[in-house]
Amino acid sequence: MSHSHQSDPLLPGISMMQERLLVPILVTLLGVVLLTPRVASADARRGQLLYENHCTACHESVVHVREDRKATSLAGIRKQVVRWSSELELEWGPEEIGSVVEFLNTRYYGFGKVRKQ
Ligand code: HEC
Repeated sequence: MSHSHQSDPLLPGISMMQERLLVPILVTLLGVVLLTPRVASADARRGQLLYENHCTACHESVVHVREDRKATSLAGIRKQVVRWSSELELEWGPEEIGSVVEFLNTRYYGFGKVRKQ
């Protein structure tokens, strides 16, 4: 039956039998991907790029895990990111600042969920 033209597989190059096995597997994988809480969100990845481009000239990441670190809350991280981005005249808006805060918090601080402003 896999040779009948009415039942050509949707995916080229594989038989109906393979497709019957493959499709549920793909659907399951998709479900797992969609349902798994992402450790690094797109926001955090963007923040990482921004941070690596603009902020690692002076401090390596160790500044964020030292014992007497300045940021002791999400608001504290935000304050520092605002401070540094304006010091460097980067003209970051809430989007950029939020992304970098989320990146730093996800990677180093872990103060609970970042709320978008
Ligand atoms: C000109 C050098 C320099 C640049 C560039 C710089 N920083 Fe910093 N940063 C420092 C120094 C020095 C400290 C620690 C002393 C202090 O807070 O004054 C610090 C501390 C911090 C802290 C607080 C760390 C803690 O103790 O919890 C954060 C957050 C931070 N920086 C973020 C950034 C971000 C985001 C950028 C890029 C927009 C940036 N920094 C760019 C020098 C710099």
